[in-house]
Amino acid sequence: MSEPRSDVVRLSTGIRGLDGLLAGGIPEGFMVALVGMPGTGKTVACIHFAWAGLSAGESAIYVTTEESRESVIRQAAQFGMGFDRASREGRLIILDALMRKDDEWSLKEVSVEEMLDRVIAAKRSLGRGARRLVIDSMSAFWLSAPVKAREDSYSVKRVLSKWGLTIYVTSQYAITTGSAFGWGVEHVADGIIHFRRAISGGVLRRYLLVEKMRQTPHDLRAWEIEIRDGSGMELVRPLARRAEDDALPGGVMRRIREHSGDEEP
Ligand SMILES: Nc1ncnc2c1ncn2[C@@H]1O[C@H](COP(=O)(O)OP(=O)(O)O)[C@@H](O)[C@H]1O
Ligand SMILES: [Mg+2]
Repeated sequence: MSEPRSDVVRLSTGIRGLDGLLAGGIPEGFMVALVGMPGTGKTVACIHFAWAGLSAGESAIYVTTEESRESVIRQAAQFGMGFDRASREGRLIILDALMRKDDEWSLKEVSVEEMLDRVIAAKRSLGRGARRLVIDSMSAFWLSAPVKAREDSYSVKRVLSKWGLTIYVTSQYAITTGSAFGWGVEHVADGIIHFRRAISGGVLRRYLLVEKMRQTPHDLRAWEIEIRDGSGMELVRPLARRAEDDALPGGVMRRIREHSGDEEP
C-alpha cells in the first residue's frame, strides 16, 4: 500500500483544470517558480492564484516589479476579479517595485532586501489570513547583477520560510537564449510550472507543463491553455502525441538511410 498523502495541505491555483494536474493543488508552504518567455501567461496565472485566496476570504500579498499596481488591478478586473475592492478592504497588499511612489507599499529601490522587509511588514499587517504571496517577477532584481540570482533565491526561501506563506515566483526567460538568468529560482523552487508559446496553424497558442512539484504525483503532459476576456486562464486540452515525438533526430535518420542505400525522399 502506498503512503497516505492526506497530511499535505494544498492550495488551489485558481485555474480551472490545473488543480487536477497537481493532486488537488500546490502544497502549503511551497515556493513555486513560474517560468517562461514574455506573454506566455505567467502574470495571469499569478493573478488567479491570489484571487483563489481572496475570493475565499483570505488575504494576499502581491509584489509587482514589471507592472504598476494599477496595471495589476486592471488586468484582474478584466477577468472579473475584484483586486480593487480587496485592496480597499485591506485584504490585499500590492507591493509596487516599479513606480517608486512615496507610500508604505512602494519599494524605494529594486532590491531583494527591501522587498523581503516589505513583504514581512505586509504579512505582519495582514496576519494569519495571509497565506499566499506572489513575486512577479524576480528577474527585475537581477537586471544589473545576474550573478545574484541564486543567492537571492535562497534568501527569499530561507527568510520567508517561517511566515507560513505559499509563494509563486515568476522568472523571465531571455528571448534570445531561452535561458533564465544563470542560476535562477528553479534551483531553489519546490515546484516549476513552465509556460510556453508557439505559432500553430498561424495562431498563437500557449501551453503549460508542470515540470516539478515535490510531494505530488503530478501530470506529465503539456496542456494547451487559453486566456479569455472576462474569465482568464483555463486548461483546454493536453497536447496530442505527435509522430515527431517518437522519431529519431534528422541527422540520425539520414545516416541510417545512407547506410541502407535508400534514396533521400
Ligand atoms: N482581457 C484579456 N482577454 C484575453 N486575453 C488577455 C486579456 N488580458 C491579457 N490577455 C492575454 O494575456 C497576455 C499577457 O499574459 P501575461 O500573463 O501578462 O504574460 P507574462 O508571461 O509575460 O507575464 C496578453 O498578451 C494577452 O494575450
Ligand atoms: Mg508578466
